Amino acid sequence: MKKKIRRIAVLTSGGDAQGMNSAVRAVTRRALDAGVEVYASMGGYYGLVHDVVKKLKATDVANIEPLGGTIIWTDRCDEFRYEEGMQKAIATCRKYKIDAVIAIGGDGTFRGATDLSVRGIPTVGVPGTIDNDITASDYTIGFDTAMNRATEAFDSLRDTCQSHNRINVLECMGRGCGDIALRSGLAAGAVGIAIPEVPFDEDALVARIKEAEAAGKRSLLVSVSEGVAEKNGKAFGEYLTDKLNALCKAGEIKHDARFCRLAHVFRGGAPTLRDRDTATRMGAFAVDMLLRGESDRVVLERNGKLVSMEIRYALMTDKMYKGKLKEGDLDGFTEEQIAGMKEICEERAKEAAELVALADALCI
Ligand code: F6P
Repeated sequence: MKKKIRRIAVLTSGGDAQGMNSAVRAVTRRALDAGVEVYASMGGYYGLVHDVVKKLKATDVANIEPLGGTIIWTDRCDEFRYEEGMQKAIATCRKYKIDAVIAIGGDGTFRGATDLSVRGIPTVGVPGTIDNDITASDYTIGFDTAMNRATEAFDSLRDTCQSHNRINVLECMGRGCGDIALRSGLAAGAVGIAIPEVPFDEDALVARIKEAEAAGKRSLLVSVSEGVAEKNGKAFGEYLTDKLNALCKAGEIKHDARFCRLAHVFRGGAPTLRDRDTATRMGAFAVDMLLRGESDRVVLERNGKLVSMEIRYALMTDKMYKGKLKEGDLDGFTEEQIAGMKEICEERAKEAAELVALADALCI
């Protein structure tokens, strides 16, 4: 029988992402409107494990939409990975009579959400991470703002490269996912984009640089995702910068190169409309799911629509896309489900390869 939800907890966990505040606001107000009380677990799962929770009123979430970061803090709570920590979290839920949890974050957050669900606390996940690495979702909260930050950075680097006749290599955050580097590199007209999903041809980059030089281009930008494997003991972007400088010294190319890493800068600042909009809709959707009795599922955006998927299925699709499947991981999934995962991965890989090729074709 469906249990009536009277109180929920909301938490933001993992790396913060712009737009998380809009999600917290939407969760809070949608729940309060439905007569459900809301508690914030402060600092992600840490708040549940250590009994740091705060009752939220509608006014507590007023005017937070333009704020970067997350007003209910975040953490990557190690203790919550172990049974003892989870039991403490469940004890906190019992203490405050919390019937269900909405967990906003990335894949680590969703593993935690499943752990709570299987232990009797219905939980729904909302994808909040700048990385856009929830493979089954076209979009994650924070991705749009992070791409825009990266694009602004490229535009600034363009100005100085144009003055100096120079190449600038910008490393973009994103963990194992190249989407920020890909989309901002494409938007900025990069002469090369290196992401983990698509093999990178260094010789082809050098050939394009020579072509660009022959065409009289002064400024050249290269976008490198932090997820590309290290080379010669260095982050790939730094290795590539050294290589281009060595080629310049040897007279093979004319531009010298500089390396830039803005790291967490991409994660800060005011969220874009897109992130606020997605976060608001996803937050309200998650509350509605819990009220309908749905649990252990994650909200996704697919083809412009909000849908949901079993968390385990979404996490396994990520593993498949990242080539991290271990023996036995797919046991328990039907052939049809596995085919569905493969289709999502293939679509995503195809799009990444096409966009890199498009950027390469348009850069000169
Ligand atoms: O997952 C979000 C993210 O910002 C990644 O892009 C990055 O690799 C990582 O978090 C950085 O983690 P931390 O905040 O612990 O430095």
